[in-house]
Amino acid sequence: MGRIDTLLGDITQLEADAIVNAANCTLLGGGGVDGAIHRAAGPELLAECRTLHGCATGEAKITKGYKLPAKYVIHTPGPIWRGGGQGEEKLLASCYLNSLKLAAEYGCKTVAFPAISTGVYRFPLAKAAPIAVRAVREFLSRHDTPETVLFVCFSPEVKAAFDQALGQT
Ligand code: APR
Repeated sequence: MGRIDTLLGDITQLEADAIVNAANCTLLGGGGVDGAIHRAAGPELLAECRTLHGCATGEAKITKGYKLPAKYVIHTPGPIWRGGGQGEEKLLASCYLNSLKLAAEYGCKTVAFPAISTGVYRFPLAKAAPIAVRAVREFLSRHDTPETVLFVCFSPEVKAAFDQALGQT
């Protein structure tokens, strides 16, 4: 399915209609990609996030992109990996599905994801990539929007995992 692709790079530079932020439940910023997105978007992003009063793990909320090239930021707190017995896999899939649902509602043609939960939240990359690819494929099989989904990988290791998941499943 030509509608999904991977690329190596910094998601804050991407001109997608929406970029997805691997947030935490406060939505008040943090490190990793969350920190990078807030730095690039500027203080207005945090100001809008404050009005959202947090977000549950696996859910997603949308804001404007402000100084980012992207029009929107979709914030989704991924699950913290605690060994796999706490429904982490289902919650990770929900991050992707709920983000895509919002993107479609807002008419976004291109949506870019980072590798949600695979950094600070320690979700094993080899498990996260196939979960992400399966969720995106399932959504795109039922919707015409978004037209394109990009997995923006911050390191070659992450890109290899997503390329394998795309080729594999
Ligand atoms: N562009 C694309 N991907 C990035 C970028 C970037 N600029 N910066 C980091 N990443 C990648 C990481 O390399 C990792 O593959 O995003 C993926 C997710 O890692 P984290 O940002 O650590 O996110 P996560 O594991 O979901 O942990 C979320 O970390 O930053 C805090 O506030 C955040 O508490 C939340 C937690």
